Amino acid sequence: MTHRIAVVPGDGAGREVVPEAVKVLRASGAQLVFEEFEVGAERVLRGDPAMPESVFQELQKADAILFGAIGDPRVSEPYAAGVLLRVRFELDLYANVRPAKLYDERLSPLRDPERRRADLTIVRENTEGLYTGLGGRFKKGTPEEIAVQEDVNTHLGVTRVIEYAYTLAKREVCLVDKSNALAHAGALWQERWKAIAPQHPDLGARHLYVDAAAMELVRDPSQFDVIVTGNLFGDILSDLTAQLVGGMGIAPSANLNPKTGKGLFEPVHGSAPNLAGQGVVNPLGAILSGAMMVEHLGSAEAAKRIESAVVAAIKAGEVTRDLGGTLSTAEAGDAVRRRMGD
Ligand code: IPM
Ligand code: MN
Repeated sequence: MTHRIAVVPGDGAGREVVPEAVKVLRASGAQLVFEEFEVGAERVLRGDPAMPESVFQELQKADAILFGAIGDPRVSEPYAAGVLLRVRFELDLYANVRPAKLYDERLSPLRDPERRRADLTIVRENTEGLYTGLGGRFKKGTPEEIAVQEDVNTHLGVTRVIEYAYTLAKREVCLVDKSNALAHAGALWQERWKAIAPQHPDLGARHLYVDAAAMELVRDPSQFDVIVTGNLFGDILSDLTAQLVGGMGIAPSANLNPKTGKGLFEPVHGSAPNLAGQGVVNPLGAILSGAMMVEHLGSAEAAKRIESAVVAAIKAGEVTRDLGGTLSTAEAGDAVRRRMGD
């Protein structure tokens, strides 16, 4: 079956890495048709909305969305989160899946060869928590100003993301929260966790407070399998885990609704305005996000081929400078594409 992919390069680094991902996907054997949409800063600078309604409708209809990044320092208003978070919220993409796998020993910043072998996945709740925008500012602009940002945690939201985390686990699921300090939200996560974990007696169930989790991730990332956590903690920890396996340039992600099958696939790195436009950004995060996309669409084989080609390119040192190589973005993309037949 041919799948329709909405391609949204977006801004900055996204515009450089997404074409590389498309190039590799075309060589992957997966049956895909691509349709590209302009979203982002250039539109705003022309006085248009960053994401017109018609484009949003098209993204809703697509079988999957391949997304680059959003954000540009030339635009002062905070339109970036609006575009990405709107798609996450309105398509109800409640599971943000962020794997961190050490593909080559030399990419780890950690000394201990046993403990540094990370192969873990963060499942971040993606539609509520501190990201809903609920709250407000009272006595704005005065010395008495109060800013309230609500942390929204629902029975449904917490339940479904913990359940999804279990579907990905091979050994165990580790719940990460801050229930020792955030009593209300923490209690709901704890209760849902205690109700769901016993339904999976073959898998381990662990709990860590987020501060301890940050420490344990650096001490011994090899101990983790699947971590499930709320929106903000997942955002923070997934930058940390990216750095454990080579940095932001290599980290892929999937924003999924496992029930409807909808998905948006994006590198974790963002628009990287300080690097964008120089041909130096790493395309591997986008390429691996493409692999997650085709796996989600049912082509596990194509996904494996892409991942193996990425590993081979890394081992050969045919990578961008953030991973110790000398290649440009396009050359690094070619290095993967050339290996697709292997
Ligand atoms: C991410 C990003 C976004 C987030 C920003 C751009 C709103 O940091 O995908 O991790 O916080 O979710
Ligand atoms: Mn982030």
